[in-house]
Formats: sequence, structure tokens, C-alpha cells
Amino acid sequence: MSTITVHLQAASGAVHTLQGRVGKSLMKEAVGAGVEAIAADCGGSMSCGTCHVMVDLVWRERLPPPGNEELAMLDMTAAPREAGSRLSCQIVLTPGLDGLRVRLPATQY
Ligand code: FES
Repeated sequence: MSTITVHLQAASGAVHTLQGRVGKSLMKEAVGAGVEAIAADCGGSMSCGTCHVMVDLVWRERLPPPGNEELAMLDMTAAPREAGSRLSCQIVLTPGLDGLRVRLPATQY
């Protein structure tokens, strides 16, 4: 299975770089890599908001737009929603996302 590189930047500035498997969600790969800031309490069913990330500007257009259910959940996350806010459980890793950069909200650490 091919992998891509993803960078997750914590509010502290620390960057966690991981190799994510293509076809898997960013949430699953981050949890598997031990990124504790992604709690993912609901396991990816869009009901917890604890997988909230902010996608860096240059990468936003490479992602499919969020659906209504994701947008509704993003209105209820602990950290205020920003322009690049997404649920990482809904970001499926593709070869075109190699080098993806996201930030983690200060409320997730
Ligand atoms: Fe719960 Fe993404 S893991 S909303």
C-alpha cells in the first residue's frame, strides 16, 4: 500500500510528521501514529468533533468540499470553526495530498 507524508502542527508549534496510507482517513492514520490530539471519540461517525483540524490554505482546494453533515459537526467543535476547518475523519488520503499540512486546535493537545 502506498503512503504519503502528512504534517500535523500542534498549537505549541511542534510538528508531528507521519506516513499515512493512501485510502485511509487522516484521523485513522493520526490515531495509529499516536497523535493524542486527535481523540476521535466517535471513531469517524461525525458525531464528536474531536478530530478537528485546520487545513493549510494551499491544501484546501485539493480536498473535496465538506458535506452538510460535516459542516454541522464543525459548528459544534470545541475550538471555533475557521476557514480551513475540517473533520480529519472525513479527509481521505490520496496521492495528491502528499505533503498535506494541517494545524491542530489549541483545545486539542
Ligand atoms: Fe468523531 Fe471525526 S472522529 S467527528
